[in-house]
Parts: sequence; structure tokens; C-alpha cells
Amino acid sequence: MGIPESIIQQIVAKVDFLELVGQYTSLQRVGDRYRGLCPFHQEKTPSFYVQPDKRLFYCFGCGKGGNLFQFVMETEHLTFPEAVRKLAEKVGIRVDPDDEQSLEKGRKQDALLHLLKRVAGSFHYILMHSSRGVTALQYLRERGLEDSIISKFQLGYAPPDPYWLKKFLEKKNFSAEFLQESGLFTHRNPNRAFFVDRVMFPIHSSQGDVIAFGGRILSGEGPKYLNSAESHLFRKGETLYGFYQARDEIRRTKTVVLAEGYMDVLALHQAGVETAVAPLGTALTPLQVRLLKRFADRVILFFDQDEAGLQAIRRAAILCEQQELEPFAVRAEEYPYKDPADFIQNGQKGELQKIVKYPIPILEFLLKKISLKKDTATHPGNLLKVEDLFPYIESMVSEVRREGAFAQIADVLELDRESIRKDFHRRKWIPAPRMEGQEEKKPEVVQRTPELVLMILSMESRKNFEEIRSRITLDDFEDLRGKELYITLEEMYRQEEWSVDRVLQSISDEALKDFVLSKLISSEFKTNQEKLINDSVLFLKRRNLERERKQVLKAIQRCEKTNQGEELSRLLEKKMYLDGELEKLRAVENE
Ligand code: UTP
Ligand code: MN
Repeated sequence: MGIPESIIQQIVAKVDFLELVGQYTSLQRVGDRYRGLCPFHQEKTPSFYVQPDKRLFYCFGCGKGGNLFQFVMETEHLTFPEAVRKLAEKVGIRVDPDDEQSLEKGRKQDALLHLLKRVAGSFHYILMHSSRGVTALQYLRERGLEDSIISKFQLGYAPPDPYWLKKFLEKKNFSAEFLQESGLFTHRNPNRAFFVDRVMFPIHSSQGDVIAFGGRILSGEGPKYLNSAESHLFRKGETLYGFYQARDEIRRTKTVVLAEGYMDVLALHQAGVETAVAPLGTALTPLQVRLLKRFADRVILFFDQDEAGLQAIRRAAILCEQQELEPFAVRAEEYPYKDPADFIQNGQKGELQKIVKYPIPILEFLLKKISLKKDTATHPGNLLKVEDLFPYIESMVSEVRREGAFAQIADVLELDRESIRKDFHRRKWIPAPRMEGQEEKKPEVVQRTPELVLMILSMESRKNFEEIRSRITLDDFEDLRGKELYITLEEMYRQEEWSVDRVLQSISDEALKDFVLSKLISSEFKTNQEKLINDSVLFLKRRNLERERKQVLKAIQRCEKTNQGEELSRLLEKKMYLDGELEKLRAVENE
């Protein structure tokens, strides 16, 4: 059983982190940090740092880092619960409840599940049968969803009155204290609902209990989707949306279809693809793949038809291959739709079904992205180089499979097999991320993108995030890791709490965690924050405008060939608008 978050917080507050670390290495103050010889590896010059305000440590030499529990885990070779117990004992806090207490805890958990189920039911009722739900229901129907799917996934609607839920539940005799801990209300104001005027997607555990919600905005300002905060019931990185509804069919067909978002899962199920699931706004994690591996042999990746989608496919393929789940991709680039939800919105149920029926092995899919390059005139954009395949090939468990891959690459690209093999073994390319548990820790290199810079500045202070989110939205982000952090930070912002450690704990990608920790510990982002924010925001804005402009130009060329006058003038107007925006940016940059 997990140790309650509140006890962990108490321990964190009571332990003197500097003193704890000081028992293992002597520390010297440098600015607002402390430095010493690393207790985890042999070194002559100190590269081990402690940041007492944030209660974090990091060694630039060996890459070990984390919070105080991780420090104890590493120094004493303990598991997380053991480390917590050890520190608890040290500061005199009781962790293990006696029987009466653990019974009480079980009862509380049951009560919480009961509450969430009830709330999901009420949201669903409001959507389907109340006048307050009319706009939301209409919205879902306009996106092409049928009532049977809405019911199968028990979609709902959270009304616009932020105080409605509290009043409603008080009438049902739930205590105020219990409701406060349910995650349905904001931290700052326990009477105010966390989800307001949103389409609600209940998130189920594999057993079918409602453990959290996702909520999609209908109008107004705010993030497109919000998810419930993580709790001991709900861990984003271990949960897949739709898994409960898809489980039996996945088991029967040994196949799972992995999509990007909530609406895509619904769309696929509506098209009869009842094996569809999606992660919850983060990149796929090893734990999610492990869950799938228990039921399936094959994974069909069906992500958005864009640069970010291709990036996500490549990363997901590696994770699948590492756990010997065979990855496939769908061929959807001939259609003018960007994701499964788009197909359904345009009434293309049959086409969607067909695409999923004939997927191709991931290597074949990636090879097409390379061989297209020979003909850049007709297929520009988003393409790969041969060495971009290497991390995927490296992730293969079987040597025979790897040899097969070399042969296939040589064949398709008309290259010499031996040269490909040699290049592969030269390893100048960036290797695949390792799974936890694999011995050697060689962190993948995370590139410093403007998106990540902005997110690290946000972790430095809530005020920075406030400014950033007022100037730029999630849609302006392309870097997947940046996106993942943005979603977590936005959720925390909405919960009206701000804990760097909490963000770090939510990161499931080891390489990203390493990168973020090292930046937070270094003083790199302590100064010049204003300028860094400004430069990064402007960079992203400019990049997106320029990309959009390129697309418009291409569309204009197409229109000129086919003589579509009306469309052409719309596009020219768009181009003028984009030129104007770029001009404005240039003026700001030159100030
Ligand atoms: P997208 O931004 O691609 O949304 O995010 P979408 O699926 O196209 O949404 P619709 O079709 O406009 O409704 C994909 C997934 O990322 C997560 C959600 O799980 C979403 O389904 N996400 C996205 C968040 O958690 N928060 C956000 O603010 C945005
Ligand atoms: Mn999408």
C-alpha cells in the first residue's frame, strides 16, 4: 500500500536536507547552492551540487540526482518505501498505520471510488438529459460522435456554475473534509469545482473504477484539456485512456491501436476499432507498454499526421520493440485528415476502419519517409535520414530481427548492407533511451529547445509561468517533452499549487528528468529570465508563423494550377495577414 502524500510532505518539511547530505560529503557554499565531492562516484574535483531551496541534488559527473528520498535510496540502497520509513523514523513521524488506521484508509478509498463513480454518473446525466447539457451534447454530435459511443465511455458535462458540484454533493451527505481531498475542487477554494463548463471524460482503471477525469474546454480561455491531479489512485504514466473499454477486444485480437488523444479513441471505437487506447497527454511510458504487453503482441500506432506525430511514432516504436511488442503504423497520409477524430467528423467511418485494417510494419513506414526524399519536389517536409532509423534498430532485442532490418534497409534504399552495418556500429548517432532496470545508465541527449527553456523558467517561478501562458499556448509547442511539461504545469497552475518536486516526480522520461534536474541545479536560468522568456516566446511565434506561411504559399501554388479563384483569394488574404504578423514580430525583435 502506498504511503500517504500528506505523510511524505511532513517528512520533507522536517528533514534538514543539507545536514543529511553533509553526512556523506562535505559541502561548500557557492552562491545559493552547495558543492562537494560526489558520494556516488570517484572524483577529484567536485561536481556534486545541492540546491537547498528546492531540496534537490544533482551530480554533473555521474548524472545521479533527485529529491531527499532518492538521495537516501542511492546512498543506502533502499527502495522508495524503505527510504521514506528510514527518514520518518529519524524525524519521529509514524508511517505505518495500525490496523484500525489501515482499515479506515481502505474505507476512505472505497468511499472515494464511490464518489467519483457517482460524479461521473451525474455529469453523464446532465449531458444527456438536462437543458444545461444541450450545448455540450450538440458539440459532441457536431464532431460526429454517436450517442452509443457517448454512453459507452460515459462522457459527461460539468456545468458552468463553479459552486454547483459542492452544493450538490453536500446534499448527499459527503463531509466537507472528504470532498476537499477528492481532487474535484481547487486547492485554494474548496467550494470551487476544478472542472467548470467542460465536456467530461471519465478515466477508468483496468478494473473499471472511475479514478480520474479529463475535461475538454467548450469555449472561453484556458487549456484545451485538463486532467485530474495525480493521486495514489491515479498515475498518468501508468494509465491509458480507454483501456478498460478495450481490454477484452485487445485480449481477443492480441492487437492494440494506440492513438494520441481522447477524441481519437472515441472515433476509433465508433469505427468498430474497439482496441483503441491513448496515453493522457504525455509521451508513451514503459509502464504503459508493459500493461499492453500483458494482453497484446502487436501495437498499431495511429498518431497525428504531423511532425510531432512522427516524432511520437519513433519514440513509441522504440519502447514497444524493447518489450518485444511488434510496432506497426497506419498509412493515412493520403487523406486530408490529421487524426482519427477528423475522419469521424467528416463522416469517414469506413475509411478509418480500412486504414487500421491494413497497417504496415514500422520499419517499412519509416523507410518510406526516407525514400520519399529522392523525390522532394512532390513530397516535401518531415523526412528522415538513414541514421534516424538506428535508435529503433538498436532497441531490437533479437539479433536476427536486427539483421533483417539491415537487409531491408539495404534493399529498399539500394545501399550496401555492410556499410549500413558499419555506420550503425560507429554510434555517432544518438542512442535509444534505456529502460529502467537495464544496467548501464547512459542518458540520451536531450536537446535544449526553446520550449524546454520556457518550461524550466516556469519551474523557477510560478510568476514566469503566468507570463508565459499569457503569451503562448500549448499549440505553439512542438517539442514533445516541452508539451508534456506544459500540460503538467498548467494542471498544477489550475490546482493553485506549485511544487517543483511534484513536476519532477511526474516525468516518466529519464532523459528529460536528467535534463530538467541539471538545469534547475545549475544557475543557468537564474539570471536574465525576462530576456530568455522573451527570446524563446518570439522564436516560437516566428517559427510557427513561418511554417504556416510556407503551407499557405504551397496551397496558393496548387490553387493557381487548378484555377480555384475563391479559395485563392482567401489564401492570399491569409498570406497578407501572416506577412503582417511577421513584420510586427520583426519590429518587436528590433526594439
Ligand atoms: P491535442 O492537442 O492533439 O488534442 O492533444 P486533440 O486530441 O486534437 O483534441 P480535440 O480533437 O481538439 O478535442 C492530444 C491529447 O493530449 C492531451 C489530451 O489527452 C489530448 O487528448 N492534452 C492536450 C492535455 O492533456 N492537455 C492539453 O491542454 C492538451
Ligand atoms: Mn489531435
